[in-house]
Amino acid sequence: MSEKSSASSKAYNRFPLGASWIFSAILVSFLVSGWFFDAYDNLLSLNSYILCSESHNIYTVDELRPRVECISIKGSTIIDTGSFDEVTERGLLRSGLFPHLPNLVLKIIHRSPRVFKVNPQSVVVPGLADAHAHILQYGFMKELSLATTTSIEGVVERIKEYILAHPDILNDKTRWIQGMGWDQTKWPGALFPTAADLDQDPLLKGRPISLSRVDVHAKWVSPRVLELMGDLPDKVDGGSIVRDTDGRPTGIFVDNAMALIPTPEWTEDRMTQFFETTMRDALAHGLTSIHDAMSFPDYIQFYKKKADEGKLPNRLYLMGHSPSNDYWGAQIPQLIDYGKHGRLTVRSVKLVTDGALGSWGAALLEPYSDKPDFSGLILTPPKELSDLVHKFWKDGFQVNIHCIGDRANHVVLDIFEDIMSNHGANATEWRPRIEHAQIMTMEDLQRSGKLGVLASVQPTHATSDMAYAETRLGPDRIKGAYAYQTLLQASPNHVLPLGSDFPVESINPLLGFYAAVARLYVDGSSPHGEGGWYPQEKLTRAQALKGMTLDAAYASFAENSLGSLTPGKKADFVVFDGDIMTIPFADILKTKVSATAIDGKVVYGSL
Ligand SMILES: *[C@@H]1O[C@H](CO)[C@@H](O)[C@H](O)[C@H]1NC(C)=O
Ligand SMILES: [Zn+2]
Repeated sequence: MSEKSSASSKAYNRFPLGASWIFSAILVSFLVSGWFFDAYDNLLSLNSYILCSESHNIYTVDELRPRVECISIKGSTIIDTGSFDEVTERGLLRSGLFPHLPNLVLKIIHRSPRVFKVNPQSVVVPGLADAHAHILQYGFMKELSLATTTSIEGVVERIKEYILAHPDILNDKTRWIQGMGWDQTKWPGALFPTAADLDQDPLLKGRPISLSRVDVHAKWVSPRVLELMGDLPDKVDGGSIVRDTDGRPTGIFVDNAMALIPTPEWTEDRMTQFFETTMRDALAHGLTSIHDAMSFPDYIQFYKKKADEGKLPNRLYLMGHSPSNDYWGAQIPQLIDYGKHGRLTVRSVKLVTDGALGSWGAALLEPYSDKPDFSGLILTPPKELSDLVHKFWKDGFQVNIHCIGDRANHVVLDIFEDIMSNHGANATEWRPRIEHAQIMTMEDLQRSGKLGVLASVQPTHATSDMAYAETRLGPDRIKGAYAYQTLLQASPNHVLPLGSDFPVESINPLLGFYAAVARLYVDGSSPHGEGGWYPQEKLTRAQALKGMTLDAAYASFAENSLGSLTPGKKADFVVFDGDIMTIPFADILKTKVSATAIDGKVVYGSL
């Protein structure tokens, strides 16, 4: 027997026998009364709190109670919403202790749960979702972002800074330099750059450099990369190699031709670094769910490992992807609310029909208005696309298809319609999605609604493209482009999930919210003036908020657990320091996140 325990038994014996007996009796009665512990826990509110807004600025996105004063949270779940009196009184009843005592007495003996009050001008909304984004590419782009460059010289300067800031790259001319975010439509002349542009500066000369266009549908490479690539095919299906008048490649590779570029694969360490960058920025901007629009099988394994380790700070909804036109369903595991915190879901795939508008890759029914001999690129031939969609549907995958041009949308609606009309697919159960749904004929806008196909749109694409979209499309086709209000009205249950396509656009969901409700540049102007570009296609603020919450949840089969502040759902919410539902448009852009909570826990900022 050690000295320590003999000392403590001596101390114990100092209590008179009677007192110790009574003590034990009380303890036993506590132990046998399991209900008492539950009630006690509720009374002490160990993992519960109430969040209130005196100005009733809690926008729930719940039709039954759209604006409330308080929400009450226990653990990871919302247990109640209503006025302060309502949620506290119902909380007492729920505690189950002394149900026969009058409320007044209960209130006196009750130790109040923690109550947090937000500022009267702040708002609380459900945790925001981004229904279309590229998680690892965002972290990757942050490494060497060209998003703010406005000329070729600007790009070169940016790369020089990057090289000088990374001695390991500076001293090793064989190291690949990969950047992202250039956009020739912002440059003088608006022409594609060339490989030679990347060899002008002695610091860049001879280095392998590969720079993705902002939409990731074209890459611009250096002469060294062209050398490494050797002989190139004359043609690439669903892609193009831009050539000069002598037929020599200029250094621009569009869509499927990008696969020819021998960029090194990402190591797991780099993926982790990219992932952490994205998660940090996502939570700081109020995102609690992200739909990853192109998860290759190795990405899925990476996320799965993170989920097993409980290291997913956000809810992730992955769209599996492989560039192959042979069926690859076996490479995509189906996981629902998977992992230590149940935050990973994989039950959908992403297919790609065409390219993007900025690089004339969007597949159009008629030629481009500013390129009359060209109508874009179909990346996957319709027959192969149809076979893939059938197989994925049979294997239980939601099928989400990238379609920009009116031809791409048309082809895909034909495929979806065939499966639903002739093969018995049920739209409510299957929830097929068109990603972007950017340019549609008037008939197809209505047809997509009738079929129950979900249009997953990115409002910032409208404002990023509005300077040149009409030049590309002409005055008629533009009416069916970025037609968000028309799409929403065409949808039988009014579902229009919104996303950003980050890193193509900013990760900040308030920019998408602003673009959807104002259809203005961030400086308040537009090609149609201060009233917004094609203003009849604006969304109301309530519609936009629902698109970023409940509709995105619906598009990921999660409307019963996410997307609104409703009792029984997950306690994911955001506090903004301004009332985005009423303040002038320009102030939306100044609004900041004060707190982001997921599963009831504040993971960014504070309450
Ligand atoms: C489709 O599925 C939903 C949900 O299971 C069901 O309510 C609906 O009746 C089905 N529609 C048809 C046409 O079978
Ligand atoms: Zn995308």
